[in-house]
Amino acid sequence: MIDMERRRLIDHFEAVLLLCCAFLISSAAGAFRGHVSDDTGLRRGLTETGRQIFDVTKYGAVANNERKDNVQAFMKTWVAACRNSNAPAKIVIPTGAFLVGPVVFQGPCKSSEPIVIEVQGTVKATTDVSDYSSPEWFSFEFVNGLVLTGKGTFDGQGPKVWHYNDCKTNPNCQHLASSLRFSNVNNAYVEGITSLNSKWFHFFIYESKNITLNNVKITAPAESPNTDGIHISASTSVNVTNTAIATGDDCIGIVQDCHNIYITNVTCGPGHGISVGSLGKWSYDKGVSNIVVRNCTLVNTTNGARIKTWGGTTSGEATGIIYENIIMKNVKNPIIIDQNYGRKNQPSKWKIKDVHFRNIKGTSASKVSISLGCSSLFPCEVVEMSNINLSYGGTKFATTATDSVCANAKVANSGSNPVPCSSKGPTVPSAQSTFE
Ligand SMILES: *[C@@H]1O[C@H](CO)[C@@H](O)[C@H](O)[C@H]1NC(C)=O
Ligand SMILES: *[C@@H]1O[C@H](CO)[C@@H](O)[C@H](O)[C@H]1NC(C)=O
Ligand SMILES: *[C@@H]1O[C@H](CO)[C@@H](O)[C@H](O)[C@H]1NC(C)=O
Ligand SMILES: *[C@@H]1O[C@H](CO)[C@@H](O)[C@H](O)[C@H]1NC(C)=O
Ligand SMILES: *[C@@H]1O[C@H](CO)[C@@H](O)[C@H](O)[C@H]1NC(C)=O
Ligand SMILES: *[C@@H]1O[C@H](CO)[C@@H](O)[C@H](O)[C@H]1NC(C)=O
Repeated sequence: MIDMERRRLIDHFEAVLLLCCAFLISSAAGAFRGHVSDDTGLRRGLTETGRQIFDVTKYGAVANNERKDNVQAFMKTWVAACRNSNAPAKIVIPTGAFLVGPVVFQGPCKSSEPIVIEVQGTVKATTDVSDYSSPEWFSFEFVNGLVLTGKGTFDGQGPKVWHYNDCKTNPNCQHLASSLRFSNVNNAYVEGITSLNSKWFHFFIYESKNITLNNVKITAPAESPNTDGIHISASTSVNVTNTAIATGDDCIGIVQDCHNIYITNVTCGPGHGISVGSLGKWSYDKGVSNIVVRNCTLVNTTNGARIKTWGGTTSGEATGIIYENIIMKNVKNPIIIDQNYGRKNQPSKWKIKDVHFRNIKGTSASKVSISLGCSSLFPCEVVEMSNINLSYGGTKFATTATDSVCANAKVANSGSNPVPCSSKGPTVPSAQSTFE
């Protein structure tokens, strides 16, 4: 996983620039069309719920035109609804396909009510990578109270640009754009929408609080590069429920400084699993705590329940992690702690403790279904394994029994098949320490 937090300062600078642009556009729009006064707006577009409607087509957006970049219209709509409206506002993106380049939706909004965005149609990202001066497509920033809803789709048009991603071979690679980024967003609710073929991550939640994603659909091919479903960083109180994720990288990645994260009824596959980490790649990485993954199903994924930390000089703690009621179907590494991630020649200084794997059943695509490769400097403690039943579902071996290998792990076992740490062999088979 390549981290993007180092772009923070640049991002901030660009956000300020975009904010200035947004103000200029709003004043210009006001001059041309007359002021979008809240009074007339209220009379024109009041709904039953008392929200003023801001339809992007009223601000110049045109659907079903492959050459029309609707970025200006979307920005004008946002400025009118968020920054200039005292009334509770709802932005509507009606049916049809709207081509849109990168947009920053910056708050704070004027109304104290959450701003609602209803997506009925399809929003399609532009595909000229030079449009994207920073790696986001729809970027929500400094918004307090946001509802993103509807049956519509955000189509990142990844297939047209994935070939530009050389991150596998180039450590200084340029990142493509994440489709939906929330940074410094508080109290947001995302429901119903589909994210299709993001260029980079589908959702990127950063420095945000109290965010719920419910009944969302995330889709990209297994081979699409770095298309993490939901990447959560430096955020607190994030819930993901009733969500189906099929993608090319981690379905959900919970990285540094995340706390109180609840994942329930998520299906993942194809993809690289539901991961805590990687942690410790960057010197600023802080610990994570209270992460619960419950009632989830993983199908055909490379990993299932995974915790990964880097070797090197940085240190921290990953504590209070529960993976519970998980069904694995044909998962390559169903349960894996990998503290040998990244810098393999140095032991990790990260401490993993108070981790619970409970009620995890199904099939492993590899012979080693439980692999706990903990740090020699800071052994994992206490790792609970209870009510685990993982059988071999592949064709290479005749037996359905699987193995469990461990290093530096203190395990409390109550009813696990395989018995944790019962097998000899390489701690973390090299094939399992992948760099995705
Ligand atoms: C969390 O956000 C939701 C909106 O999704 C809001 O209704 C709720 O009041 C917020 N909770 C807190 C504790 O602020
Ligand atoms: C997330 O779910 C947990 C457990 O169900 C609940 O306690 C918490 O309030 C929820 N948080 C949000 C942000 O909805
Ligand atoms: C789980 O989520 C799926 C959508 O992915 C939904 O169809 C199903 O009803 C949910 N199950 C429960 C028990 O809520
Ligand atoms: C998880 O599933 C169990 C058993 O199917 C059910 O009793 C429980 O309510 C579910 N928990 C959540 C948070 O959906
Ligand atoms: C999992 O793989 C099997 C066999 O290749 C395939 O039939 C099935 O559709 C796959 N399921 C998912 C959810 O990818
Ligand atoms: C474990 O799963 C296998 C395959 O589904 C099943 O045959 C076996 O009875 C299960 N064992 C336990 C202890 O549940």
